[in-house]
Amino acid sequence: MRTIYCGELNVSHLDEEVTVCGWVHRRRDHGGVIFVDLRDHRGLVQVVFDPDTPDVFRTAERIRNEYVLQVTGRVRKRPEGTINEDLPTGHVEVLGLELNVLNAAETPPFQLDDDVQDETRLRYRYIDLRRPEMQEKLRLRARITRTLRNWLDDRGFVDIETPILTRSTPEGARDYLVPSRTHAGEFFALPQSPQLFKQMLMMGGMDRYYQIARCFRDEDLRADRQPEFTQLDIETAFLDEDSIMTIMESMVRDLFASVLDVQLPDPFPRMSYAESMERFGTDRPDLRIPLELVDLGDVMKEVEFKVFAGPANDPKGRVAALRVPGGGEISRKDIDDYTRYVGKYGARGLAYIKVNDLAAGRDGLQSPILKFLPDNVVEAIVSRTGVEDGDLIFFGADRASVVNESLGALRVRLGHDRGMVQGDWKPLWIVDFPMFERDEKNNRWMALHHPFTAPNVEDSAALEENPGTSLSRAYDMVVNGTELGGGSIRIHRTDIQQAVFRLLDIGEQEARDKFGFLLDALNFGCPPHGGIAFGLDRLVMLMAGANSIREVMAFPKTQTAACPLTDAPSAVATGQLIELGIHLRKPPEVED
Ligand code: AMO
Ligand code: AMP
Repeated sequence: MRTIYCGELNVSHLDEEVTVCGWVHRRRDHGGVIFVDLRDHRGLVQVVFDPDTPDVFRTAERIRNEYVLQVTGRVRKRPEGTINEDLPTGHVEVLGLELNVLNAAETPPFQLDDDVQDETRLRYRYIDLRRPEMQEKLRLRARITRTLRNWLDDRGFVDIETPILTRSTPEGARDYLVPSRTHAGEFFALPQSPQLFKQMLMMGGMDRYYQIARCFRDEDLRADRQPEFTQLDIETAFLDEDSIMTIMESMVRDLFASVLDVQLPDPFPRMSYAESMERFGTDRPDLRIPLELVDLGDVMKEVEFKVFAGPANDPKGRVAALRVPGGGEISRKDIDDYTRYVGKYGARGLAYIKVNDLAAGRDGLQSPILKFLPDNVVEAIVSRTGVEDGDLIFFGADRASVVNESLGALRVRLGHDRGMVQGDWKPLWIVDFPMFERDEKNNRWMALHHPFTAPNVEDSAALEENPGTSLSRAYDMVVNGTELGGGSIRIHRTDIQQAVFRLLDIGEQEARDKFGFLLDALNFGCPPHGGIAFGLDRLVMLMAGANSIREVMAFPKTQTAACPLTDAPSAVATGQLIELGIHLRKPPEVED
């Protein structure tokens, strides 16, 4: 239907007769001459209709935005003074000689260059996707997946699909369930990841597996979480964690080099979970921000300020400081604002000290809490944080988890607010994770990764004696504060797997019911194995410079896990429910 794309026309086509197809981006009626910016996936070109061709001109008079046209015309130079240097086609225009309206369009709910609410964009996603920047991002995504596939194919990884209708895989979220008609009263779970299948592929001798796999998790959504998302899922046999990390970071390095022309460090730095929590309050630190938490618990034990002394004397508490270079200029109003911000993470306040003049001792410091702190404590604060005149120090004191989350988030916010983000790309590995974390509310251990992650001890007795201090053989890849991927060496021995289930309070019968197939498989010659999964949406989001994974998915869901385009989820016919043996009643109050 066309001889060339709109966006490709330039002075090399002068005087040629061309046929282009596309959407009306804008139409302007300039007293006797009609200008149409015609758009396809390659760009825009200006088409001019003048009254010398009366039939064509009359048709042009009734076209509107987003009409679909086929135009045949002659390429000519734009007159002096009307050249648009911002447009790749801006030196030329097409004089329209034939015009075929392929389809009319109602007035669109928004113009492509409007700022529109997310809900509206998702409802009319097919219009939203016409935006050049959306097209760009989906093309980038395709390029990234192609590059990754080629890389893995070239190195002997085999692309294997695993089931979507399956059993629950415990990755820590709620399952999406699918009722079975042929087994009334029973349900499939959609996979939270292909974890157990990829392990079984290693037991099946496949050696190296990968899959671009769809995963489903019913969890609270955020900018970097969707209920349905994509992993680049990988598993290998007979490799230890060092080899896996080395191979995987070289894949990511090659990807960044070929797609973005960016050189990432070789090797990626590695940091223990404990160090990351201590210095950054999180296990996904954004290393572009040069601010760090400093522990002060040991010097606060005796102070009369209960807010600090309490957590300092509590083994689960933490007292930490965050030095902000040049922060002395932060206004009272902004401090209040930051105090509200950390409040969202559970912090009950945000004490601070402004450093006006160190040489003047206490008199050179300004703070509502100074009066509670003896000289030796003030000295320890000054020396440990390394403050200088003009700085500010923030303090967090609470349960360690609250201090870590609140000061960790404040650190990132300050980094952005104060223009302290340094460098473009800062990847690293986080290693030496604890095997378990304590669920205080329910008084039990939880797996920090998933329950198939190997501990770094060989014997199950050692693990069961010290679950709280046991480390795992897991690793996470973090880039610029985003957890891009996570994996581990897996348990390949039945006794260790059973010990982990016991520690997680998964009784023998429950383990048999849920994971009997895995326990059986471990007994039939299971090789040592391990792998990783990358959040593909997050990877594309980072590489595209987008601020949400919704921006790099063609048809994402809203914050409430719905699809405004298709109106899913939706009610179903009573007949379907009867067939499935399902009787609906009012859902129970959701507790959290
Ligand atoms: P994990 O649960 O850490 O590990 O997931 C791996 C990666 O998937 C991405 N991710 C998500 N992306 C978008 N929306 C979500 N809701 C979401 N949840 C996770 C993250 C994360 O790093 N089976 C293990 C992997 C393994 O051990 O090999 C797993 O799924 O980028
Ligand atoms: P108050 O004694 O409640 O007036 O608090 C004195 C100062 O300590 C104020 O600046 C509070 O913001 C701060 N503050 C209170 N609780 C905490 C806390 N848990 N962590 C850090 N600072 C706090």
